[in-house]
Amino acid sequence: MPVWVALVIIIALLALPAKADEQLEFTLEVAPEVAASGLMDYILPRFALKTGRRAVMVEDGADARLVSESGSGMHVIARGEAVYALILDTGNPAAERFADWLSSEIGQNTVAAFVPEDGPSFAPPPKTEAVVDIVLEGDAKLGRKVAETHCARCHRVSPEGTAMNIGSTPSFAALRSLPDWDARFAAFFTLNPHPAFLLVTGVSPPFDPARPPPIVPVEITPAEVDALGAYVARMAPADLGAEIISR
Ligand code: HEC
Repeated sequence: MPVWVALVIIIALLALPAKADEQLEFTLEVAPEVAASGLMDYILPRFALKTGRRAVMVEDGADARLVSESGSGMHVIARGEAVYALILDTGNPAAERFADWLSSEIGQNTVAAFVPEDGPSFAPPPKTEAVVDIVLEGDAKLGRKVAETHCARCHRVSPEGTAMNIGSTPSFAALRSLPDWDARFAAFFTLNPHPAFLLVTGVSPPFDPARPPPIVPVEITPAEVDALGAYVARMAPADLGAEIISR
């Protein structure tokens, strides 16, 4: 090809935002009194150092909001009487990472180690009896959709969900309670009975023409397999009971 065509292609490729970058940054809005305390200047560089993820402070329209408790979201810090929740408004994985870090022991210790110039220190939120709903974001949300569309034919895919309840088919919650659940969800499409009716785009071999799928075939993408994993990761493991027979 002519040199100029190659150059145009290279320039076009360079101009494309690198996909990884999207996930290294998220936007964050914090309550004004928290911003004024200097807490974020203290914890964000430490978070960035640990995770390689960076928060960009904005005034609104953020991926994540650290705001005075309003009944929703995950309570992450308290100061005096005030309780602050972290609310994730988009599926930005870097923001989810921040939520994980902030609620982890390391994150909580980092918050507690900060000494504000004035006013009381920040502390972990008081424990409440209320169970905070897990709001599914991004991939996990897609994963639940894929599960409900394609897997619920046989599996019970959520605690509320119903399934045709084919006796030998394990519920997702039961599978989630196995120590190697993630390996099973990464490879289920290679394990019977799935290969007979389910293809993963670009990964599974085509169906054997001599043995057409016994039920309406399903095709899902590798990204959807990942999304299923993200969804199942957030499910509460079932009390195993007698549901699963170890094989
Ligand atoms: C036609 C019914 C059917 C559908 C649809 C189905 N499964 Fe299954 N699945 C089964 C049965 C039956 C088993 C148990 C197989 C066994 O015990 O050998 C199973 C087992 C599994 C296991 C456990 C595998 C292991 O390691 O033991 C996983 C994980 C799984 N399915 C995921 C899925 C996902 C994800 C979907 C949707 C994309 C799906 N299944 C759709 C019937 C189905």
